[in-house]
Parts: sequence; C-alpha cells; structure tokens
Amino acid sequence: MTASFLKPVEDLRAQFLSDLEISETVESPSPLKGEGHELLRVKYLSRNGLVATLMKTLGSIPVESKPLFGKTLNELKSEITAKLDSFSTNTNASSACGFVGVFGDMTLPGRRQEAGSLHPLTQTQRQICEFFEKLGFSIKEGPEIEWDDLNFSALNIAADHPARDMHDTFYFDEKRLLRTHTSPVQIRVMQNGKAPFRVISPGKVYRCDSDITHSPMFHQVEGLCVDKNVNFGHLKSVLHSFARALFGLSVKLRFRPSYFPFTEPSAEVDISCILCNAKGCRVCKETGWLEILGAGMVHPNVLKNVGVDPEEYSGYAFGLGVERIAMLKYRIPDIRLFYENHLDFLSQFHGL
Ligand code: DAH
Repeated sequence: MTASFLKPVEDLRAQFLSDLEISETVESPSPLKGEGHELLRVKYLSRNGLVATLMKTLGSIPVESKPLFGKTLNELKSEITAKLDSFSTNTNASSACGFVGVFGDMTLPGRRQEAGSLHPLTQTQRQICEFFEKLGFSIKEGPEIEWDDLNFSALNIAADHPARDMHDTFYFDEKRLLRTHTSPVQIRVMQNGKAPFRVISPGKVYRCDSDITHSPMFHQVEGLCVDKNVNFGHLKSVLHSFARALFGLSVKLRFRPSYFPFTEPSAEVDISCILCNAKGCRVCKETGWLEILGAGMVHPNVLKNVGVDPEEYSGYAFGLGVERIAMLKYRIPDIRLFYENHLDFLSQFHGL
C-alpha cells in the first residue's frame, strides 16, 4: 500500500494521465480538447506548474519521509517529461512536415462555411451606381452628420419649410443634424469643384419616421448633372434608360409635376407597375403606376448659392430611395426585413 504522504504524488500522476488521455482524444468534448501537449507541459512542468507546486510542500513532510517523497515526485516529473517528449517525437515522425501537432491534425478536411453574399440593399445600390458610372457619372459621398445650412438653406429650402420641423429631422444642436436626404452632397460637390459636374451620391439618410414602408434610417442615391445646355430632355432620357436597365426593357416612365424647393420645374417619376404589368393591383393602388424617384432642373438659386452662374450653366438632379427600389424589384412587403439580419431572408438574395 502507498504511504499516505505519497498520496498527493499518486493523485497528481492520475490527474496527468487523465489529462493526457483527454488531450489525445480528438473527439472529446472536454475543455482540454485542443489544448494540446504543450499546454500540459506548462500545466505540469513549468516553474509554477503542478509538479513544482507539490515539491514546495516538501517542508511539511516528516523528515524521515522526505527522501522517498522527493524521489517519487522526481520520478513522476521524469515520467511526465518522457510522455510529453515521446508525443512530440511521435507526431514529428508520423506526420509529414509536422501537420499533426499541438493544434490537431491539419490534414483533416476543414468545416464547410456557406459562402456569404452582399446585402440586397448593397446589391441594389451598386446596381444603380454602376449604371450611372457607365454614363460618365462619378461617385461622391458626403457625411451623414450634416450642417443645417447645407441640408436645407443652400438647397433653397426656406426657414419655415415643414421638412425643417423637429418632427422629421434628427437634430444634434441648432446647426447640426443627421442629413434627411443626400441632396446636400450636390452642394458640397459644387462648392468644392468647377462645372461641369456629373456625380452620383449614395448613402444613408435619416428621418423620424417608422412603419412598414418607412425606416428612421434608409438609403438614397442622388444624381446631379450640371453643364452647358443641359435640359429636361436629357433628364428624361437618362432616367428612362435607367428604369429600363433596372426593371426591364418594357417599362414605361411617367413624369408628374411636383414641387421640390431645389428644382424648377420638379417632377415625381413613376414607372409602369412591374407587378401587374400596369393592369392595376394592390401595390400600385390600381393605378398601374409606381413612384420611384423625385427629379427636376436644378433651381437657379441653388446654382447661385454655390457660385455657379445660372446664365451659363444648367443642370438636372434626381434622388431615389434604395429601399423602395429593392422592395419593388424583389417584391418585399415590409422595409424592416432589410434590417433584421435574418439569414432566411438574406440568403434568398445570394448570387442575384
Ligand atoms: N431630396 C429629395 C427627397 O429626399 C429627393 C429629390 C427630389 C432629390 C428631387 C433631387 C431632386 O435631387 O431633384 O425627398
């Protein structure tokens, strides 16, 4: 029978053998799985390891038992060292170039990970931008935290315009806000450059509004073309080609007179309903038409505000909501689906 003062040494030996077994069992669910033999070496043989710690109890062992205790513990240390060393030698010998080692067998096949894909809003935004880039527009982005001046005043939106109401706009203070549209990028581009301009500006915008077709954060794409002799016919033709590229060759376009402070004349642009082929359905409210964007000829006041001579230059601008386009294109009934990150929803847009 083992003397009682040797019991801690025997216990440590049993613990080591059990750890070793677990660490060599690849399928084991133990937390030790994957720790590998190098970790066992640290756990047992390092300066503060379990063997050294047990050796420190030598002082409390009766004098006559000390030699046997020390010898037994030293034997255990040698045994542990030999076992761990033989493991590294074995693996080096058995595996070509050490592919089997501390981190498991690297020659095993990896776990398959489903390929990801771009978010449907990113796909739609890119599609829109790519179309206009082919026409010679370049991408210019602006900040989401914007000056009240650029978001409103420079765009000819008077101080008493309802869009300035706290109800629609998230203000930080009197001068700064979360932009409510991408139109201020028009101002930034024209203030910092020289005509002609052909830019497309995608980005996030914010409004205090939330229901199945509105979200407090959503995405817009702004377009601006300013040059000599630009007219409404150019706007019509560019938007018609755009609608055909996005919704198919048979799509029709309709311009309805509208009002935006920064364009004159202004129009809301509809496409023929792609869901019912313009016959009339719930989505187009039986009209056969779906509104997709706002547009118009840049107001002379806006050009003056950025130092562009409206006698020399004219331009058109348009702004569209990316969510709205994606909802129509993919027949998505609720805008909130875009932001909930459910894989069942998102994976449907894989490879579109
Ligand atoms: N900024 C407008 C909005 O958010 C959209 C818009 C309409 C942009 C007409 C334009 C434009 O550039 O010409 O409702």
